[in-house]
Amino acid sequence: MTERVIALVDAGRHKPLPPQAEPAAGPARDRLGRALRDLRISVTDRCNFRCVYCMPKEIFGKDYPYLAHSALLSFEEITRLAKIFADYGIEKIRLTGGEPLLRRNIERLIEMLAAITLPDGRRIELTLTTNGSSLAKKARALKDAGLQRVTVSLDALDDATFMAMNDADFPVAKVLAGIDAADAAGLAPVKINMVVKRGVNEHSILPMARRFKGSGHVLRFIEFMDVGATNGWRMDDVIPSRDIISMIGEQMPLEAIDPNYPGEVAERWRYRDGSGEIGVISSVTQAFCRSCTRARISTEGMLYTCLFATSGYDFRSLLRGGKSDAEIRAAIAAVWGARDDRYSEIRSAETAKARKIEMSYIGG
Ligand code: GTP
Ligand code: 5AD
Ligand code: SF4
Ligand code: SF4
Repeated sequence: MTERVIALVDAGRHKPLPPQAEPAAGPARDRLGRALRDLRISVTDRCNFRCVYCMPKEIFGKDYPYLAHSALLSFEEITRLAKIFADYGIEKIRLTGGEPLLRRNIERLIEMLAAITLPDGRRIELTLTTNGSSLAKKARALKDAGLQRVTVSLDALDDATFMAMNDADFPVAKVLAGIDAADAAGLAPVKINMVVKRGVNEHSILPMARRFKGSGHVLRFIEFMDVGATNGWRMDDVIPSRDIISMIGEQMPLEAIDPNYPGEVAERWRYRDGSGEIGVISSVTQAFCRSCTRARISTEGMLYTCLFATSGYDFRSLLRGGKSDAEIRAAIAAVWGARDDRYSEIRSAETAKARKIEMSYIGG
């Protein structure tokens, strides 16, 4: 019970906006010189999985107090905010959750967001992170609505391990069918995210690498992180990316390749035999805060400038309080201008215990 109350308070915690001063012309920079390029929008705090590292069942049980529908940003509010962000400099939107495909009529939101153009006339890049459970059914409609790519989470290839991690008895085959459907619909290249937790799914590293080598999909291994306040993170649970690269490289030789774009979180490696690439996301052992250009909007419209934040800024009340686009833009500028987050760089056993926002609420 105590845990649930804390989680509820967490969800509502917000801080006052910093003093508003529109920065000088040119791309807006935060206090560490980082531009704002990437906006992640969480469209629901619910999920049909109970991954042990994200929504452990003991806390996210039957009577967990999820947000009421009226608390969520509406599609119109999300689109209005996204347009203001696009005008301010973001180039990419990623829809997350919880499980974003659980949000009713998500295709409609995708249509609305896909129509956003950037100040230079280009289309905004629009992607989505999903657990894949309903992708087989929805991939075609998502593509038709204007979604460009998807990233699918998959932590193992055998049901015993995968079910132990998703804690919802969800079988691997259905996610694989979702990945195939996404590929067939042209939501490509499909990226596959595997969170690696020592002693839980490390034996799946090689089978996963073999399964997706030559498939055209990009498998990425993610170091288990201390997101939220409920996942019981310990440094001992993390398998450093460099160990994963040596393990795979011994069997299937690899070479490092350049990032696709500055600030890409995944470090890219390609198979020397030309059969594709993999990635590693080393947010614990090699923090990438220095190039972090990401902002996050929670399901109820709080703006977070770090995945590990303990509080956010209440943009829903700006949207619902009659503020103009110019005023909201000025608020974004004030928040970004004051930003100095670099949690992964300063992480320690102490900071890991802080009452951070849950990833299912803020979005991965
Ligand atoms: P694309 O390049 O468009 O495919 O996106 P991406 O590489 O940002 O991928 P994605 O959004 O799938 O992120 C992959 C994972 O990296 C997330 O699920 C998180 O676990 C982790 N991650 C993403 N952004 C951050 C961040 O800002 N900080 C930290 N510490 N981890 C992050
Ligand atoms: N550590 C690393 N990655 C995580 N994700 C969720 N929780 C964690 C964590 N504790 C990732 C999952 C999923 C995305 C939504 O966030 O891999 O792909
Ligand atoms: Fe759901 Fe993704 Fe969290 Fe798993 S990691 S519980 S699939 S939101
Ligand atoms: Fe960005 Fe915060 Fe992640 Fe660092 S810890 S990369 S600042 S989101």
